[in-house]
Amino acid sequence: MSIALIILAAGKGTRMESHLPKVLHKIGGAPMLLHAMQSGIALSPERIIVVAGHGADRVRIAAQAHDPDTEVVIQTEQLGTAHAVAQARPALNGFDGDVLVLYGDTPFISHASLEAMAVARAQHDVVVLGFEATDPDRYGRLVMQGESLQRIVEFKDASVDERTITLCNSGVISAQAETLFDLIDAVGNDNAGEEHYLTDIIGIARARGLSATAVTCDESETLGINSRAELARAEAAFQSRARAALLADGVTMQAPETVFLSFDTVIGRDAEIEPNVVFGPGATIESGARIRAFSHLEGCHVSRGAVVGPFARLRPGAELAEDVHVGNFVEVKNAQLAEGVKANHLTYIGDADIGERSNIGAGTITCNYDGVFKHRTTIGADAFIGSNTMLVAPVSVGDGALTASGSVITRDVPDGALALARAPQVTKDGHAKRLFEMLKKKKENLRKGVI
Ligand code: UD1
Ligand code: CA
Repeated sequence: MSIALIILAAGKGTRMESHLPKVLHKIGGAPMLLHAMQSGIALSPERIIVVAGHGADRVRIAAQAHDPDTEVVIQTEQLGTAHAVAQARPALNGFDGDVLVLYGDTPFISHASLEAMAVARAQHDVVVLGFEATDPDRYGRLVMQGESLQRIVEFKDASVDERTITLCNSGVISAQAETLFDLIDAVGNDNAGEEHYLTDIIGIARARGLSATAVTCDESETLGINSRAELARAEAAFQSRARAALLADGVTMQAPETVFLSFDTVIGRDAEIEPNVVFGPGATIESGARIRAFSHLEGCHVSRGAVVGPFARLRPGAELAEDVHVGNFVEVKNAQLAEGVKANHLTYIGDADIGERSNIGAGTITCNYDGVFKHRTTIGADAFIGSNTMLVAPVSVGDGALTASGSVITRDVPDGALALARAPQVTKDGHAKRLFEMLKKKKENLRKGVI
């Protein structure tokens, strides 16, 4: 069965108190909209349609960055969930598969739940994803008769009796495209919210002799986000799931609750992640690498046997080959460190290529930026960069070359050469002693008031 996703994302999200459209607030480094899209994408949909309204341009950019084939339709006025789904109708003209409606602010619906809905769809015309709510609060209630879903009643319109129902509507709903849009055509707005409720299609379907049922999922999947507090709760839920998945895959973490992960963090088996490490988007860590405490990594690749940190920062484009060591207070950006390179202390390596086994001394800096352009530094294999070397890019240091400590290297250093670029030392015997005596005497005179 071919599937089209319709993801509702037009709401303003007033309670977020934000200029950013609600669905673009991030969880695990990715907009919540992308999490919602991703759960539906697991079903290999033929079409993806996002219904945007508030901040539609930004929503479009984010959705299409994740999946360029995503179509974005605009709902100019938010007249209710049925009205929102109806906006996708022209885009789906002629599509005769199943439609699955998801919410952009409900990011954790599992693949298993959507699969279960697809199975139920074989028996029923309309399938709703429900859940047993510990606190049913203001959710729509599912009115069941055995297996059969009779109707959904919104909290605002529910009777006292109906409000005691604990089986609630997650909002996720599935039906054949034409059936769905025909049902939506019949939805009015004669209700407490004066909105076109998508949930009304169940009662309408039943009245037309169509069948409907509910599949249930775990309440944690239906976590919706309306405020920053709920966003923080969703982040915490995401983090604990992501940590548990890594532990299950054989990653060592002594204090997993202090490690922060992104939606796309990849860490190989037997890698070790010490406490208080943060992974921004785009980090991949191979098997057996070790990331030591208080390091921050994003957009980088760390190969097996490499050791990073403590207190290291790997920024986008940092690529560490096998057995590379990057130590405390070292920052690496857009640079390739070949096998066995060591940069153990207080260093900035930006826009650079460093050959195998080269040693980068403490305090070395690639001066990559002239205020307008960025330039590259190239270092060969087995080079030794003395402590506190400034490498003023563009510049290269050859294989087996050596730069003397404190050098400011502005010209290329050939293979095997020694480059020394610092002022020669001047030593004057007895000068320090005389200078201190003079200064002490001056201080004493000042104290006595003698000038
Ligand atoms: C909806 C359901 C309710 C369910 C709850 C689960 C309806 C009528 N009610 O209620 O049964 O228990 O979700 O969270 O469907 N949206 C649009 N355009 C609109 C209206 C809404 O895009 O015109 C989007 C919102 O941005 C949001 C989603 O649809 O992502 C749900 O809308 P919301 O107003 O939050 O519905 P609820 O009142 O929470
Ligand atoms: Ca809601």
